[in-house]
Amino acid sequence: MDREQFLTFRTALTPASGFQSAQYRIIEIYSTDVFFLVQKDLRGSFIIEDAPEKLMEFLYWRRGAVEMESLKKTFTLRQFEEKYLPSLLQVANEYREKNLRQKWLKMAETERWNPELVATMRRFDHLANVEWPLVHFRTATRYLDRKPQELAATGGTNWKEYMQPKNQQVTFYPELWSEAEEQSWGKNVTKEQIGI
Ligand code: HEM
Repeated sequence: MDREQFLTFRTALTPASGFQSAQYRIIEIYSTDVFFLVQKDLRGSFIIEDAPEKLMEFLYWRRGAVEMESLKKTFTLRQFEEKYLPSLLQVANEYREKNLRQKWLKMAETERWNPELVATMRRFDHLANVEWPLVHFRTATRYLDRKPQELAATGGTNWKEYMQPKNQQVTFYPELWSEAEEQSWGKNVTKEQIGI
C-alpha cells in the first residue's frame, strides 16, 4: 500500500487505532507480571507482589500514549479504558500466579535455566517488545511522517515518542537480560535484526 493510498482513507479510521487492541494487552498480561508493564520510571514505588488493582493505573500504555499538545489522555485511550479496563483487570487477577513468567519461576532450577528455554524466552521478549514495535514505528513513520507537518495519528497520541521500544522500556523477563542489555533495550537495533 503506498502512502497516497493510505492517506485517502486514513481519516475515516479516526479515532480508531491498533492501540485499541485488547488482545494486544491481554497477550502482555499472559506473558509477565503486571509489575513489568508499569511505566519503568514509576516502578520504584511498587513491588512485584502488588495487586493488579494497585498497578493498573500506572501501565506504560496508560501513561505514555497522550495527546501531543495537552499531554492529556487521548479520546482513543479514554474510550479504550472505559470499555476494556474491567476485563483486563479480571484477566490480570486470573493470571497473577499463572502468567508465563510465574510458570517459569515455578519450574525446577535446572529446568528453568535450560539454555534452549532461556533462548526461546529471550527471543519472544525481544520480538514482542523491541522488533515488532520497531517495525511498527517505522511503518507509522513511513505513512505519517510528512514534511513539514507530520500527520496526527488516528489515535491522536504522541506516537513518535510513545511507540519507540527504547521509550516504552517493556521487558517481560528482566532476569534473562544482563544490565548492559537492559540499558541498550530498543536501541541500536539493526535493520537486519528486524528483517527490513
Ligand atoms: C499504515 C499502517 C499503520 C500505521 C500508520 C499505524 C500507526 C499507529 C500509531 C500512530 C499508533 C499509536 C497510537 C495512535 O496514536 O494511534 C499505533 C498503535 C498501535 N497499532 Fe498501528 N499502525 C499501522 C498498522 C498497524 C497494524 C497492521 C497493526 C496490527 C497488526 C497495528 C497495531 C497497533 C497496536 C497494537 C498499537 C498499540 C501499540 C502500543 O501501544 O505500543 N498497527 N499504530
